[in-house]
Amino acid sequence: MDADQLTIAVVGAGGKMGMRVSNNLQRGGHTVRYSENSPAGRQRTTDAGRELTETSTAVADADVVILAVPDIALAPVSAEVVPQLRPGAIVLTLDPAAAYANLLFRREGIEYAVAHPCHPSVFLQRRTEAELNDTFGGIAAPQEVVAALESGDPAAQAVAETVIRQMYAPVVDVHWVTVKQLAYLEPTLVEVVACMVGDLLKEALHETVHTVGVPEAAARAMLLGHVQVALANTLKGDNPFSDACLIAMTYGREKIIKEDWKSIFDDDELDSVLTRMLHLDAISR
Ligand SMILES: NC(=O)c1ccc[n+]([C@@H]2O[C@H](COP(=O)([O-])OP(=O)(O)OC[C@H]3O[C@@H](n4cnc5c(N)ncnc54)[C@H](O)[C@@H]3O)[C@@H](O)[C@H]2O)c1
Repeated sequence: MDADQLTIAVVGAGGKMGMRVSNNLQRGGHTVRYSENSPAGRQRTTDAGRELTETSTAVADADVVILAVPDIALAPVSAEVVPQLRPGAIVLTLDPAAAYANLLFRREGIEYAVAHPCHPSVFLQRRTEAELNDTFGGIAAPQEVVAALESGDPAAQAVAETVIRQMYAPVVDVHWVTVKQLAYLEPTLVEVVACMVGDLLKEALHETVHTVGVPEAAARAMLLGHVQVALANTLKGDNPFSDACLIAMTYGREKIIKEDWKSIFDDDELDSVLTRMLHLDAISR
């Protein structure tokens, strides 16, 4: 397998991630094939100037097959695709949930990798308008990526990293961890905690405006500036909080956070959230 001239198949090329990774892969020097089964996804793929290929043709001689389909479709899609792959091919999924829950169709001699974009850091020094507008990443703002390769094979990892750097470009760094560690990053750290906190902030803003009656512009300005200060103080150590603020923070914890909240880092709880996310009855290992 020549990492400079790969054949890559994107299955689900017309979906949200399929479109993003295809836009970037299209600009590289590799051979890329695009497969998509919904009429809307097929339309989006051809509107973007990409030619559609039947899945079986697209994956047959691919070095890397990106399964950009919904997590709940990964079991049937991998069961259809993996038996058609050439030995040594890499199956690359974009979220660890299905791999960790053991839903991917297994075949000896096939490499299984997962790569999740970190999205551009909240502390990124953005220099251009394009970087400023690229909050998701993959367009202009540099981001890091966390990835896992089940076998740990260095040659397969090098090939996977080549594709990962291109499909999520611009990429600063790729961090290699285990599938389980990646599952504790997403969903636990970033969806269960960070995205939930973001939603809580939105709800708190709504209450401040609609229940208390504070003018929206004032409340929004106060919140957005303080979110930056809160993150810079806690995660970057920029400035200490005032003594009064620390008392208010303790009150907030007591009112809002359950005492046993750190149980989300127990394996049983990871299984529990993944079971819900993947619409499963249980996770079998
Ligand atoms: N959306 C995000 O922000 C995001 C971020 C990081 C990772 N991910 C991961 O990316 C993956 C894809 O998620 P998404 O949000 O892009 O999903 P999506 O629903 O937007 O797109 C999935 C696409 O796959 C197509 N598809 C389904 N079955 C197919 C098949 N058998 N053959 C060909 N095409 C098929 C669908 O028609 C659809 O266009 C998931 O694993 C998700 O967890 C998503």
